[in-house]
Amino acid sequence: MSGSDATFAGSIPENYEDFLVPVLFTPFADDLVVFARDLEFSDVLEIAAGTGALTARFAPTFPDAVITATDLNKAMVDLAQERHRFGNVTWREADAQALPFADASLDLVLHQFGAMFFPDRVAAYSEMRRVLRPGGAMLFNVWAPLSANPGSEAIHRVLTAHLDDPSPGFIARTPFGYADPEQVMLDVSLAGFTDVVVEPVHAVSPEGSALSLLRGMTEGSPLALELAQHEPEAVARAVAEAGAELDRLEKGTGLEMMAWRIIASA
Ligand SMILES: C[S@@+](CC[C@H](N)C(=O)[O-])C[C@H]1O[C@@H](n2cnc3c(N)ncnc32)[C@H](O)[C@@H]1O
Repeated sequence: MSGSDATFAGSIPENYEDFLVPVLFTPFADDLVVFARDLEFSDVLEIAAGTGALTARFAPTFPDAVITATDLNKAMVDLAQERHRFGNVTWREADAQALPFADASLDLVLHQFGAMFFPDRVAAYSEMRRVLRPGGAMLFNVWAPLSANPGSEAIHRVLTAHLDDPSPGFIARTPFGYADPEQVMLDVSLAGFTDVVVEPVHAVSPEGSALSLLRGMTEGSPLALELAQHEPEAVARAVAEAGAELDRLEKGTGLEMMAWRIIASA
């Protein structure tokens, strides 16, 4: 991961929420919410909650749960609070690797597409285990490899073919850079969790998502910071070509996606 890969600030949070959340994140939030129906919990911590893609589905489904939703970046927390108001959710800033919560104080820790951004994942999972009561659970997801996510793969392939020095490699390096389920299982186990189960989850972006995905990736993620280092005309040409590729994909198979869902016991 490079230094700015976890920087979600400036205009990124709003573009993230408006363009990326509906096409990439809501389908997988729905999967975690359905899975959580079989778990027992009262006190919930969401980590790397971003602008609230998962929180917005989880909070109304479990109105009796007491949820603290957190993120490293204040700009994400501020926008989440502005956009999503639920009586059972409290928002605050928190780094996954230094959680400001007491030992054994929670039943369920959730995080959606956040683990790939943690510099030391075993340290982060250990923190999560510390705050969970014995028997509590950690439920989260990470992306499967780019090869199973053709829309994101096309954007990455076209942009890196057209722009270099610096190469805009954020997509492959960070969000899709922690996609080996064996590695995830090992890291979770090293943090002391047991009964680790990793399962594949498939989804397709809603019809007509191509432009939203392109705009969200290029203006609503830290990829925007890499693109800002290039000539605007060169970026515009590369983005247009990526858009044409996404169009072709969408008209063919649709924008298929795949992630891993992980559940583990504290
Ligand atoms: C791809 S977004 C996922 C956001 C949200 N969970 C969703 O599904 O839309 C990754 C999030 O991880 C957050 N993040 C990055 N590093 C973090 C850390 N060390 N601790 C907590 N959150 C972190 C970022 O601020 C960003 O909001």
